[in-house]
Amino acid sequence: DRQIKIAPSILSADFAAFGAEVRAIEAQGADWVHVDVMDGHFVPNLTFGPQLVKAIRPHVKTVMDVHLMIAPVDPYIDAFADAGADILTAHVEAGPHIHRTLQAIRGAGMKAGVALNPGTPAEAVAPLLDDVDLVLVMSVNPGFGGQKFIHATIDKIAALREMIGDREIHLEVDGGVDVATAPLVAKAGADALVAGSAVFRGGSVDEAQIYGENIAAI
Ligand code: DX5
Ligand code: ZN
Repeated sequence: DRQIKIAPSILSADFAAFGAEVRAIEAQGADWVHVDVMDGHFVPNLTFGPQLVKAIRPHVKTVMDVHLMIAPVDPYIDAFADAGADILTAHVEAGPHIHRTLQAIRGAGMKAGVALNPGTPAEAVAPLLDDVDLVLVMSVNPGFGGQKFIHATIDKIAALREMIGDREIHLEVDGGVDVATAPLVAKAGADALVAGSAVFRGGSVDEAQIYGENIAAI
């Protein structure tokens, strides 16, 4: 029996009130806070960096789950460790030396995650499974919240769950996860669900509770 972690993405929060927003999602029962870091180069959008992680860290006890959509990654690893990131996830597509990057993340005292874009096959992370704590499957093209879930992702999640076997690795799904798609990804084997617009919809985190009840019913 796998316990599902809920990781609200603050990409859909009120940017003028991050402290209050993360306290609210923690109060609603979020397990992790998902922080989407974008560089306007690896993805066509800009968000925030280690300073934001440092600023929100004292507001909550939840795990800081930081998703880097940046290239290169290595020059920023120490800054995220110092800021208080618990999990640092880099994209397998972000550079030619993902294995070195994952080692550096663990070396800096964090859990290491590897993310795959929708167009990247599950096999791309097979050689990395002994060196990661988390695999993040993108179920939309990274860059923006509020996009439509790509259903081909379901088979990829199932394939990755099989490949992971009995290793202690979280399988996280990110993009278009809502009350309709959450049960599908959980049944396919995901154990960590990122949700941006489904949690912050309408500018209110009240939706998170509804969301949580649905997850509990899976
Ligand atoms: C997209 C980000 C996601 C995004 C999810 O690049 O990685 O975390 O915020 O947002 P929703 O849940 O709205 O698809
Ligand atoms: Zn993300």
